[in-house]
Amino acid sequence: MWSAGAGAIPILDQRMSLGLTEHKKEDRQEQLARIRDVLGTRSIVLIGLMGAGKTAVGRRLANRLDLPFIDADTEIEVAAGASVSEIFAEHGESYFRRGERKVIARLLEGGPQVLATGGGAYMDAETRANIKARGLSVWLKAEIKVLLKRVGRRDSRPLLTAGNPEKVMKKLMEERYPIYEEADVTVESRDVPHEMIVGAVIDALASKLGCAAKPDKVQGRKKVK
Ligand code: S3P
Repeated sequence: MWSAGAGAIPILDQRMSLGLTEHKKEDRQEQLARIRDVLGTRSIVLIGLMGAGKTAVGRRLANRLDLPFIDADTEIEVAAGASVSEIFAEHGESYFRRGERKVIARLLEGGPQVLATGGGAYMDAETRANIKARGLSVWLKAEIKVLLKRVGRRDSRPLLTAGNPEKVMKKLMEERYPIYEEADVTVESRDVPHEMIVGAVIDALASKLGCAAKPDKVQGRKKVK
């Protein structure tokens, strides 16, 4: 149909594809704005096992939504003046859990925001109820090999340094997955660039909150050839 030389992109095609990309960007921006509106003062709370990508995905998601990003473990460390490993070593896990419950309850007062929580936080009934009341939970669900690959890069997780990481992780999966399933939204966290997972989270949030792309617009665009 086009008489351009080999390898050249016909000028009309170039304009059209640029136009479509711009439209897609505009639609995404509109969708992000709608998600922010519907969210109100609630927080988007990322839950899931260690290595699921809660912090990395959460940071990027907050950036896309133009919301603050808060990492609960960092806030616990600031409140305690000690690292998570030090808190576990000096005071034990139940002390850490009490602090975690308090800090997350306080943080949930500060929405809207994207809040990444430590893997055990959602297991606490009170924290879970608080998240349900003031947030929208997103479970980043990953396969064990993805989790192990990611946590292998750091040794700052006391639960994993205490035993064989694979065995510990399997046990945590058994204990925690039935509870994580209560999350409002579940997104598969695969071994792909974090931006792709962020896109999947935005899609899932949009459909949960009723902000999915308008079908009339999508159809209108399809007609452009
Ligand atoms: C924990 C996960 C950690 C941290 C602590 C306990 C857990 O956070 O809160 O080491 O119980 O799964 P990440 O999930 O961010 O690694």
